[in-house]
Amino acid sequence: MTGPPLLALRGISKRFGAVQALKDVELEVHRGEVVALLGDNGAGKSTLIRVIAGVDPADKGVIEWEGRAVQIRTPQAAQHLGIATVYQNLALCDGLDVAENLFLGRERRFPGTLGRLFRLMDKGSMRREARRQLDGLGIRVPDVRAPVASLSAGQRQTVAISRALLGAPKVVLLDEPTAALGLQQAGHVLDLVDELREHGVGVILISHNMGDVKAVADRAAVLRLGANNGLFHVPTTPQDRIISSIIGAESNP
Ligand SMILES: Nc1ncnc2c1ncn2[C@@H]1O[C@H](COP(=O)(O)OP(=O)(O)OP(=O)(O)O)[C@@H](O)[C@H]1O
Ligand SMILES: [Mg+2]
Repeated sequence: MTGPPLLALRGISKRFGAVQALKDVELEVHRGEVVALLGDNGAGKSTLIRVIAGVDPADKGVIEWEGRAVQIRTPQAAQHLGIATVYQNLALCDGLDVAENLFLGRERRFPGTLGRLFRLMDKGSMRREARRQLDGLGIRVPDVRAPVASLSAGQRQTVAISRALLGAPKVVLLDEPTAALGLQQAGHVLDLVDELREHGVGVILISHNMGDVKAVADRAAVLRLGANNGLFHVPTTPQDRIISSIIGAESNP
């Protein structure tokens, strides 16, 4: 692999009161690479995602972006660098429709006075763009005017993912994107991950499903009790070795 990683974490630590959620964690993601972030419940995976996403900044450690140390202390800072996040507990607004959810926080206004003065939203343009985006990703949502409350778990998940992809990110963080999905929808999400890799995007994928990991991940980084517990080249590593390091039968600090 040439050049510095897109994203590198060096010695990241994070404490919540008495809980040391992360201890000196190291992680790298390169262009066009899918890194599975694995670990038992409470291992610190979501906390690490929220550190990178600027939601819960680290207490200690350095984040490097394309080889340079950066500060990511707000979600906006992460977004500005090109980091998009799909959180474990999907942050969609039930009362809004699909298109409105896709554009949440970056609504399109009408040009000129209507948009500037009256903050009038250009819903037609947002709906057309939402439709184009979903079609481009091969995502089947019948109507972009449907409230997301009316969608299935799988459809909600794909809307959340398309929302993350709207800003053409360089790194995508996916926290258990297939957990609530049936086989077919999960397969669809994994196809999307493959496609992101082909476009040179770096992906961090959290999953408890070893089938998902085998299917799409290049490397697997295991966290145990908030610390690194192994880094594996997925295609050449037997699954039970990875599982041993997740459950702590094997220690690979
Ligand atoms: N906001 C918070 N306040 C206090 N403790 C927290 C907070 N967020 C996480 N923790 C604690 O940090 C530890 C790591 O939690 P985290 O959610 O990162 O685990 P996880 O690996 O994502 O687990 P899961 O697989 O269940 O999603 C847990 O002990 C959790 O209780
Ligand atoms: Mg989690």
